[in-house]
Amino acid sequence: MKESFNVGIIGATGMVGQRFIELLADHPWFKITVLAASGRSAGKPYRDAVGSKWVMEGEIPENVANIVVMDATEDAEKIAKSVDFVFCAVNMKKDEIKALEERYAKLECPVISNNSAHRHTPDVPMIIPEINPEHLEVIDFQKKRLGTRRGFIAVKSNCSIQSYVPALHPLKKYGITKVLATTYQAISGAGKTFETWPEMVDNLIPYIGGEEEKSELEPLKVWGKVEGGKIVDAKEPSITTQCLRVPVSNGHTAAVFVSFKDKPSIEEIKEAWKNFKGEPQELELPHAPRQFLYYFEEDDRPQSRLDRMLEGGMAVSVGRLRPDTQYDYKFVSLSHNTLRGAAGGGVLLAELLAKKGYLD
Ligand SMILES: NC(=O)c1ccc[n+]([C@@H]2O[C@H](COP(=O)([O-])OP(=O)(O)OC[C@H]3O[C@@H](n4cnc5c(N)ncnc54)[C@H](OP(=O)(O)O)[C@@H]3O)[C@@H](O)[C@H]2O)c1
Repeated sequence: MKESFNVGIIGATGMVGQRFIELLADHPWFKITVLAASGRSAGKPYRDAVGSKWVMEGEIPENVANIVVMDATEDAEKIAKSVDFVFCAVNMKKDEIKALEERYAKLECPVISNNSAHRHTPDVPMIIPEINPEHLEVIDFQKKRLGTRRGFIAVKSNCSIQSYVPALHPLKKYGITKVLATTYQAISGAGKTFETWPEMVDNLIPYIGGEEEKSELEPLKVWGKVEGGKIVDAKEPSITTQCLRVPVSNGHTAAVFVSFKDKPSIEEIKEAWKNFKGEPQELELPHAPRQFLYYFEEDDRPQSRLDRMLEGGMAVSVGRLRPDTQYDYKFVSLSHNTLRGAAGGGVLLAELLAKKGYLD
């Protein structure tokens, strides 16, 4: 593994892009050298391009404030040549994102994406680093298809599934048969704040376009197997979801119901959560939470305001595990949607890729 990497952020002025800037400000391996967005922002120093759209709590880090923003499409060749890899989080049409990400990969610039466009491309790994790091194997097959030496695309999953799949994963050994999850999703998940989306104050909107389909299908890819250079989706469990937008700034909560082939006891479930570790913990990656899953015994936890920032927003908190009358058990879990669910998950994936030599 190289000692340091020059990094570009495509979509740097957006909600997720800002999180990347915040997270990478003092990163031990990754140094931001390029910021890119649309033609609207290109040519301006980052501070002016982002302007009043900057919504992070701290100030814009000094080392990026004066970087002149580039045009992600027009300047693609220049950007690809000058960085070791890019993070990509843009608000564009799906086919445009697919083409943009493939273009960077073909320019030999690895792309770590927060967008949904390539999540179901069979040789593009969709990684939650603690859960399916073995899917990185398909990258070699993807490179063959693209005709590249080092360029490839790796994606992270949707922020909604990040709130309940981590809690279900250590229970797979008991044979999960069916899952029902209702998600209560923060407004930052739509790139918004209460200032930019005042209709969300004292309100709930029972629809998030495309979210239920993503929430039901993406876990099956994450739990799939690599076969013949592709990821073949898992067939089980059956998953049904409803996704609601709620007046919370950050943090997606899920109310989850689950049944098993071999029903574990409550104690066994809590033990499985407490002891669960993945490769990020074993490799001591810089953004890996020491404890990925936290269980709260208090009846009124997890709460988004109190618990979303556990371990820098990279841990998942769980509570209210109890028997159910229709399913075996029910519980509630919470994950920070723009940290673990977006930029933080992307940074952890990049750390895993770097450690395994994919970014050299
Ligand atoms: N927010 C979350 O919690 C979350 C979680 C997981 C995944 N995601 C995904 O991450 C992506 C970004 O989300 P967001 O919430 O950060 O959106 P956002 O706040 O609306 O930001 C969108 C970014 O895309 C850029 N952009 C728009 N059109 C472009 C173009 N033609 N070429 C290059 N850049 C362009 C914008 O640049 P300008 O400022 O120049 O317009 C801006 O930097 C989306 O695909 C979203 O689904 C978001």
